[in-house]
Amino acid sequence: MCRYIYSEPLPLAAIVTRLEGPWSRQRVEHEGEGVSLAVVRRDTGVLIGDVVLMWLSERDRLGEIGWVLSPEHSGRGYATEAAHRLLHVAFDEWQLHRVIARVDVRNETSQRVARRLGLREEAHLVSNEWFKGEWTSEVDYALLDHEWRDGRVPCSCDDSIHGPASSPAHSDT
Ligand SMILES: CC(C)(COP(=O)(O)OP(=O)(O)OC[C@H]1O[C@@H](n2cnc3c(N)ncnc32)[C@H](O)[C@@H]1OP(=O)(O)O)[C@@H](O)C(=O)NCCC(=O)NCCS
Repeated sequence: MCRYIYSEPLPLAAIVTRLEGPWSRQRVEHEGEGVSLAVVRRDTGVLIGDVVLMWLSERDRLGEIGWVLSPEHSGRGYATEAAHRLLHVAFDEWQLHRVIARVDVRNETSQRVARRLGLREEAHLVSNEWFKGEWTSEVDYALLDHEWRDGRVPCSCDDSIHGPASSPAHSDT
């Protein structure tokens, strides 16, 4: 599960510390910050994964999205559904211009999530990162705000679902 992501499995105490710290963030005020949202099954209430949106650049209105799902809940579209909700946050609330996803070239399931979300493949970087003891290659995906608004991404969201994240563009603090 952690093969293609930066983190490693965390001990419970470290998870609790982060839940009380950065993972509890509901407001993003500065570039470099982000939100991590739990993915919970509506029918069971079980936590099955998380999706992350980082605000990379204020000037470029640029964000990066990522997703992790518990293997026992994969193959049912949950990661795509959750990430789609986060695209609403990115474009409709944060007013970002561009959202990217960086995926290890070997991570086919994750690339399929990016493509299902409507992100375009933009670049294949060869041996660009020393990652977990080896040189790795990545495929970069992106979606622009006008592509999101033009209906490139089919949407069947239940509007009653709202994430806690608030817009840096519309921050009232
Ligand atoms: C990447 C990851 C989130 C993808 O999980 P996933 O289960 O394949 O993604 P989804 O939950 O969106 O499910 C999509 C699959 O469910 C299938 N599916 C079944 N029923 C579905 C439904 N009702 N609606 C949508 N898709 C459905 C889709 O066809 C798709 O299968 P396919 O890719 O074989 O075509 C998961 O493999 C993971 O957590 N990996 C480890 C962490 C990681 O690498 N993260 C990404 C770093 S860039």
